[in-house]
Amino acid sequence: MSILFISGSPSHLPSRSGALADYGGSRVRAVSVTTERLSVLDIPADDLVNVRRQSEAAATLRQAVVRSDAIVIATPIYNASVPGGLKALLDLLPQRALHGKIVLPLASGGSAGHQLAIEYSLKPVLSALGGRHVLAGVFACEHDVEWRPDTPADPLLLEALTGRLDEATDLLLTLLGVPLVDRRSQPNGAALQGLPGASTSIPLRPSNRERCSA
Ligand SMILES: Cc1cc2nc3c(=O)[nH]c(=O)nc-3n(C[C@H](O)[C@H](O)[C@H](O)COP(=O)(O)O)c2cc1C
Repeated sequence: MSILFISGSPSHLPSRSGALADYGGSRVRAVSVTTERLSVLDIPADDLVNVRRQSEAAATLRQAVVRSDAIVIATPIYNASVPGGLKALLDLLPQRALHGKIVLPLASGGSAGHQLAIEYSLKPVLSALGGRHVLAGVFACEHDVEWRPDTPADPLLLEALTGRLDEATDLLLTLLGVPLVDRRSQPNGAALQGLPGASTSIPLRPSNRERCSA
């Protein structure tokens, strides 16, 4: 069982949408599901801009999609849509590449006003690629994911956000037929750390600003 995580952030700084993917990745690896990760930054800009479907990078992407049972797409919102680089990456895939795949979109944006951008800008593209099992996405605002200045590689996720990420990834695992470990009695972080295969632990920040995490 394998889940491919695609990051659509072109940012070279620590990525908020990437932090959502990392959290989801930790959760699924905790139940022994294999993960692969591919970023828009892994594909040469020339291949993206010129839609070079014959390129090595496009072949690598295609093979990763074929190998996967499900795909998690984590993206920032740019100008009320997904970044052009992510759209260009998806344009490298053949028609119906997502047929039979379960897809979970994750997004981060500066404004809760754009949390529907996944619905109107990403989901139609996934549908055009044959995706018929696209789950409700999880959207995070800037303040839902923060970094301490001294540990920039170590994101802090708002608890309300991790709750929604847990629900979304658990649904994904259930649809894949993966038995879930009962983690309800423990705080998320502690549960993740206690499970075999949990490779990273992401500290949780107490909820004090929930406006983006309804
Ligand atoms: C060029 C650009 C355009 C953006 N446009 C929007 C927007 O329309 N709506 C929004 O909510 N956030 C917008 N943002 C903010 C990003 O979505 C937000 O910072 C996101 O968390 C970045 O994710 P990342 O760290 O994974 O790259 C924009 C950011 C950039 C750089």
